[in-house]
Amino acid sequence: MPSERDGTLATLQWLIDAGADEAIGETPVDRLAAPAARRAEPPPAEKASPGSARAPAPHPVVKPAPGASLASTEAALSSARDLARAAGNLEELKAALDAFEGCALKQHAMNLVFADGNPKARVMVIGEGPGAEEDRRGLPFVGVSGRLLDRMLAGIGLDRTSAYITNVLFWRPPGNRTPTGTEIAACLPFVERHIELVDPQVLLLAGGISAKTLLGRSEGILKLRGHWAHYQHAGMARPIPALASLHPAYLLRQPAQKRLAWRDFLALKEALDSGRDPLLCAPANRYATFQSLTRSSP
Ligand code: URA
Repeated sequence: MPSERDGTLATLQWLIDAGADEAIGETPVDRLAAPAARRAEPPPAEKASPGSARAPAPHPVVKPAPGASLASTEAALSSARDLARAAGNLEELKAALDAFEGCALKQHAMNLVFADGNPKARVMVIGEGPGAEEDRRGLPFVGVSGRLLDRMLAGIGLDRTSAYITNVLFWRPPGNRTPTGTEIAACLPFVERHIELVDPQVLLLAGGISAKTLLGRSEGILKLRGHWAHYQHAGMARPIPALASLHPAYLLRQPAQKRLAWRDFLALKEALDSGRDPLLCAPANRYATFQSLTRSSP
């Protein structure tokens, strides 16, 4: 007969298989005890009393999100712009993000995930946002999809000494949920300053969130990928050729699409090897030059 321990382990395994990768509450919830507690209904006054000696339901504490109102959203964006603009180098930019309190994601994250790789590299890879492993280690693309990204980069002769890797979000969305527009907007001034400070020869935008945010486009990633566009925001000295491609996490789910990503990576290699702007030498394969429509500057 399975023991209670076996049952608990099986339940945990079931939760992991279903995608749970962290415990949210600080204290365990005994869900089996809850119905019994409900059966012993307290009088209404006691139920409502905040000073009741009865243990409150052990729900995770959710702090109110900064930026919840329009005014505070505007204040957060303005603080993001000021902090990002004032950063004169990458260390200062990282310190500015550490000081920034305007993105609700920060409250739930274990670590700031800033960047990895060589800031002097010719290619800057910008993904979507940290997952559980990245959140734990404070480094981008170090989980399963990061391992695939490393293999894709290796396929064109690059690694973390010859590529610089970051994300559009600097903190992990809880449970890996899709980030909100407000969360992306709060990070954007830092991403823009990040690009200015690194000033790479080319940008590789990995995944739909990164491509749409930085190119100001609304099409899906399957439409955007494989095309070069000029990335530029106000204040940048020159546009930077940017190539959108499929996110490694998507490729893990849809391995047949790796051939499309491989084509993109070959185009990236060709651009790096030639040292030329791909938009000036492959007119059939480009969108018109456009500015980032979602740029954070007012
Ligand atoms: N996915 C991303 O987009 N970025 C990471 O850092 C990890 C997974």
